[in-house]
Amino acid sequence: MRMYDLITKKKHGEELTRDEISEMIRGYVNGEIPDYQMSAMLMAICFQGMTEKETADLTIEMAHSGDMVDLSAIKGIKVDKHSTGGVGDKTTLVIGPIVAACGVKVAKMSGRGLGHTGGTVDKLESIPGMQVALKQEQFFEIVNKVGVSVVGQSGNLAPADKKLYALRDVTATVDSIPLISSSIMSKKLAAGSDCILLDVKTGSGAFMRTVEDSIALAQRMVAIGEHAGRNTMAVITDMDIPLGHAIGNSLEVMEAIETLQGHGPKDLTEVCKILAANMLYLAKKGTVEECEQLVKEAVENGAAFKKLVEMVEAQGGDSSVIQDTGKFRKAPYQYEVKSAREGYIRHMDTEQCGVASMVLGAGRETKDSSIDYSAGIVLKKKTGEFVKCGEVLAVLYASKEELFQKAEKILTNAYSFSEEPVRNRPLVLAKVSSGGVEKY
Ligand code: URA
Repeated sequence: MRMYDLITKKKHGEELTRDEISEMIRGYVNGEIPDYQMSAMLMAICFQGMTEKETADLTIEMAHSGDMVDLSAIKGIKVDKHSTGGVGDKTTLVIGPIVAACGVKVAKMSGRGLGHTGGTVDKLESIPGMQVALKQEQFFEIVNKVGVSVVGQSGNLAPADKKLYALRDVTATVDSIPLISSSIMSKKLAAGSDCILLDVKTGSGAFMRTVEDSIALAQRMVAIGEHAGRNTMAVITDMDIPLGHAIGNSLEVMEAIETLQGHGPKDLTEVCKILAANMLYLAKKGTVEECEQLVKEAVENGAAFKKLVEMVEAQGGDSSVIQDTGKFRKAPYQYEVKSAREGYIRHMDTEQCGVASMVLGAGRETKDSSIDYSAGIVLKKKTGEFVKCGEVLAVLYASKEELFQKAEKILTNAYSFSEEPVRNRPLVLAKVSSGGVEKY
């Protein structure tokens, strides 16, 4: 096999065989295929696409390029959830404990934040003492005992994706459905859970800006999961507005705790209820309606919050900050952003809200930037609400006062206004399973 011939084949829109894909991934990971040839292949894939079979073959080869985690030491059905990333998305911190409280195991490997999107591992690390780099036996032991553990991704999980993603990032080849779906699903397959629920975000804070593109991505990922023998489903949720009010690591942990205690923001509570119920449904705990009832009970009777406390303690974290969020380290400075206009908020450019939080120190501009766990934004007004001139739109938190000016400018530019009332779209826009697409 010559890489030159494979590039030519893909350039002409032909289908690559499983053997060709396998050789290509092996050769790229071990350095026989140089970046310039792989870049040409990635660009050809962007223009010509890949069939469902090619995408599934690519994903399986990428997954097998490193460790395939064997979760059989954990008793019962294991269910995983993946979000395609957004702003204010702290759902894992809420639904992991809920699902565990309902008797289904969650052995979750999560990522760090980059750019405008946050990462669960960073959020967890804002809890003093919390360990996210656990030995595999310790991780399994916690999942068996508590029902849930969330750790960082092990170094050798889908190394082909790590190398390919870095190349895509600098060759303008990120936005391709076969490449995104194989990247995400290779890590999910390697992580070993029996069932996978995908939360595909859509809107101005997401990779996929339109519902149609999000559904197409979800369909491809569900097909890959099912092809690999995993029970897989996707929900398309709104990311045209930040989820909840808090953006930034410890601020988001505090909001997740409020939600687990039954008094979180309405949108976050609703999305978490739907995601948790669908995870339970995939694990065969009942109909979706029955599973929603289980979720409601786990929150109301305090079992879900107790699971978070147990997980934090098992991973070395200080659970007193979970019991009393007033103990979280506070940012030394805060600043109120006031509205210069009166009217209904027509839209929030959600990516820019995430960028404003990053500028305050809550996120990473590059992979090596450090994070200020106490920095971020608490939104006081969101899309659809009416604001008067001079009313507070948001409160900014930072460790350096000089960061406020730039963040304020970015955030205020993210808001647009209307004189007419504005109707928000539904939080859950569609559901995708092997049986088809259900739009709401
Ligand atoms: N997240 C991933 O892991 N990979 C992509 O390609 C896009 C989002």
